[in-house]
Amino acid sequence: MKLCMIGTGYVGLVSGVCFSDLGNDVICVDKDIKKIDLLKKGKIPIYEPGLSELVLKNFKNERLTFSSDLKNSVKKSDIIFICVGTPTKKGSSSADLSQVYNVAKELSLSLNKFKIIITKSTVPVTTGDEIEKILLKKNSKKKFAVLSNPEFLREGEAIRDFIYPDRIVVGSNDKKSNKILKNLYTPLISKGAQYLHTSRRSAELIKYASNSFLATKITFINELANLCEKTAINIEDISIGMGLDKRIGSRFLRAGPAYGGSCFPKDTKAIISTADKFKTNLSVIKSVVKSNKNRSDILLRRVYEILKNKIKNKKITFLGVTFKANTDDMRDSSSLTMIPKLSKKGAFIKYFDPTGYKKEFENIKNVSYEGSIKKALKGSDLVIVHTEWNDFKSINFKSLVKGKKFIIYDLRNIYSSTKIKSQGFKYFSVGR
Ligand code: UGA
Repeated sequence: MKLCMIGTGYVGLVSGVCFSDLGNDVICVDKDIKKIDLLKKGKIPIYEPGLSELVLKNFKNERLTFSSDLKNSVKKSDIIFICVGTPTKKGSSSADLSQVYNVAKELSLSLNKFKIIITKSTVPVTTGDEIEKILLKKNSKKKFAVLSNPEFLREGEAIRDFIYPDRIVVGSNDKKSNKILKNLYTPLISKGAQYLHTSRRSAELIKYASNSFLATKITFINELANLCEKTAINIEDISIGMGLDKRIGSRFLRAGPAYGGSCFPKDTKAIISTADKFKTNLSVIKSVVKSNKNRSDILLRRVYEILKNKIKNKKITFLGVTFKANTDDMRDSSSLTMIPKLSKKGAFIKYFDPTGYKKEFENIKNVSYEGSIKKALKGSDLVIVHTEWNDFKSINFKSLVKGKKFIIYDLRNIYSSTKIKSQGFKYFSVGR
């Protein structure tokens, strides 16, 4: 099939290259000419394991092309995926849909024959209706169908999530387009993915409901971890004990720092805002957002306790600063709250992250990047393991740093408490 992905950010690029790998002809379009030029040279603008190899493979066999010419690319394609960003609107908590609607306007001028137009971007309920209205201004109903096909790709695992999805959700109010989409996804369905056809509005809501539910699961276990710390219970026993109940499931029950990234924080706020618009109170999700916002302060209070409230001149090391492992994404990472607050209290902070230096800490006093774990640990009083990179999982602290013993605060519970303590280090973790 001939596909056009509009927006070569995370969603558009990963989905585009995966569709081309399944044998489709895919044009990835972006108005950012520099980005398109880089992609044409085989340079990938985002950090995603495995993506570069897959792009090169499909670019070489000419199933994947890049362009900044939206109109022409759309004219050559049968299915158009809108994959532009829907960030939080400035000064509000709702989703900023300006990029989606701008694309819809451009599309309305490019429909030379029947096209299936699909939102892959995360968009609030009724956005599909609005896109349809925009297209109808310049085209007859026969020229297009607007569908919703949300993505469920995790950063760092995006290619695997695309190829082996739990489910594929397609929201369409039109049978013919649904059949075409089912056909497009047949290679994944035949490998075991569930295909769910719903109304367009349902598909839009399924995406927000899923992200909000996962955020709720994490927040739930994070709050229970606080209780475990006061009652000498290991949170991991609780996660396992709960997760073994098939009705609950074991995934996304790992206690840690506040959830972050470009999706959960934005989407939980946006669904509340949509519900408010329809005069519905999503009180559970509201509490989740509030609790997650407070989480970094709870962890900081623990840091103050560990350091006996003497923060000034303390040398603190952060191992990992991204919001999770296998990504270079800093968006809504709890390190962005924790590091500035510790700096304000007079601490000297060094950090190491496998994805390198972060401009986010550029203007924060006494914060420096170190190019290796060893250098970052040298002279430290407290080491905060912030991100669960594999690089940190087998560190032998004792052999890496001779002399002074620091305290370790493991926010991801990646170490065994007995092992670390047997090396002579004081060790704290989350909910255990
Ligand atoms: C999330 C969803 O998992 C994807 O299904 C969805 O497609 C994507 O958002 C999106 O809407 O585009 P992502 O933001 O990449 O994916 O990150 P996750 O792996 O879901 O992690 C989100 C946050 O939850 C991270 O801060 C992570 O550290 C935290 N988390 C996750 C926990 O604290 N505990 C867990 O058990 C799992």
